[in-house]
Amino acid sequence: MNNTRATAARVLAPVLLGESTLDEGLRRAADKAEPRERALLRELCFGVCRHFQELDALLAPLLSKPLKARDADVRALLLLGAYQLRCMRVPDHAAVGETVSACVALQKPWARGLVNAVLRAYQSRSAELEAALRRWQRVSHPAWLLDALEAAWPAEIESLLAANNVPGPLTVRVNGARTSRDEWLARAAAAGLEAHAGTLAPDAVVLERAVDVGELPGFADGDVSVQDEAAQLAAGLLDPQPGERLLDACAAPGGKTGHLLERCAGVQLIALDSQPQRLQRVQDNLDRLHLQATLVVGDATRPDDWWDGSAFDAILVDAPCTGTGVLRRHPDIKMLRRPAQVLEASRLQGAILDALWPLLRPGGRLLYATCSVLPAENEGTIEAFLERRPEACVVPVGLPFGKHLRHGLQLLPAIGGHDGFYYALLQKPPH
Ligand SMILES: C[S@@+](CC[C@H](N)C(=O)[O-])C[C@H]1O[C@@H](n2cnc3c(N)ncnc32)[C@H](O)[C@@H]1O
Repeated sequence: MNNTRATAARVLAPVLLGESTLDEGLRRAADKAEPRERALLRELCFGVCRHFQELDALLAPLLSKPLKARDADVRALLLLGAYQLRCMRVPDHAAVGETVSACVALQKPWARGLVNAVLRAYQSRSAELEAALRRWQRVSHPAWLLDALEAAWPAEIESLLAANNVPGPLTVRVNGARTSRDEWLARAAAAGLEAHAGTLAPDAVVLERAVDVGELPGFADGDVSVQDEAAQLAAGLLDPQPGERLLDACAAPGGKTGHLLERCAGVQLIALDSQPQRLQRVQDNLDRLHLQATLVVGDATRPDDWWDGSAFDAILVDAPCTGTGVLRRHPDIKMLRRPAQVLEASRLQGAILDALWPLLRPGGRLLYATCSVLPAENEGTIEAFLERRPEACVVPVGLPFGKHLRHGLQLLPAIGGHDGFYYALLQKPPH
């Protein structure tokens, strides 16, 4: 029988050291975990990451000195213990007892006394420790990110932080080429799944509770795919037409590639990504959806290495970004991101736009998207691009929701609803 706390500590230790993402660690661990252990493992790991800043600040006064890097697994156990005591319905004695025994499973029996003492001290001093939590710790965001979000969205800051701190719903995209949303909703109801139609995207369905994809009717046959509702807006905004030649420049894992083809199978679509392993996931998704595209491994900033010289009618740049619009789905981003990465991301985004613009035919359109809520990667990237390419025209996005900025549309994450996303639609002059 595995010790789930020990497994969770092994997943979290490399995240604490900045060496792995939570998804990577969970994928490795889930292969070895028993099925009924997986849900608890996910809850523990996601919970610790989501509340990391608070938990870490609460525990700091209880440790005489910080733990060494090689004991990141013991640090993870302390965070797991505090998370169970503070946020989960596990009886206190079980939370402490199971976490202490995990030291043995981690082959660190010496840590039993330390973990026991720190968790018991947390139990007895929790009121005093909670009262001392500073605001940025209480809202579970690193100080640099809180400052950046507050500067960008002063009026929305409270709702934005609240949305970042609760899990996002399971949202799916119904494959309009195979079935209709109403029909799929009826099949979901027959399968005992509570769900309702999305409010922003025509193919979106929001599930009342998360389930394994295998429980979604028709998933294996490609009737439905998991995709956030804000991400589902891309295909409608690019609006592919039969016979067009399209470039999906940062395609993996292929969520938007699949949607573009579901909407218009008659396009010729080139799906590009710089990561070969990630491109394999695009192929897997297309196989499941019974759709076809030309997959190309290549760097979007270096088209000379992969472009055959034929212009594109439309280009989707779903750019690499800091992921600050999807913190609720990837709470480890709050632990792993560094402020310098915002500037690095915006430089790469600008380089991708500069390199791909010449590949667009006159009159062609380019949709720029990120799952970031930081202006430097969104309107900032587009404004800088427009200074370099004044002939580019920003087409207003005619959607009746979100924040319509001078350039582009910003969606902030909504509790029970969509992720944070940014879109700007650019058009090249016809002559
Ligand atoms: C936000 S993800 C794309 C998500 C995808 N469009 C979807 O809907 O499933 C960004 C992708 O850009 C890729 N990428 C990063 N730098 C790149 C570059 N220079 N050229 C091409 N792809 C790049 C990453 O490997 C990653 O798969």
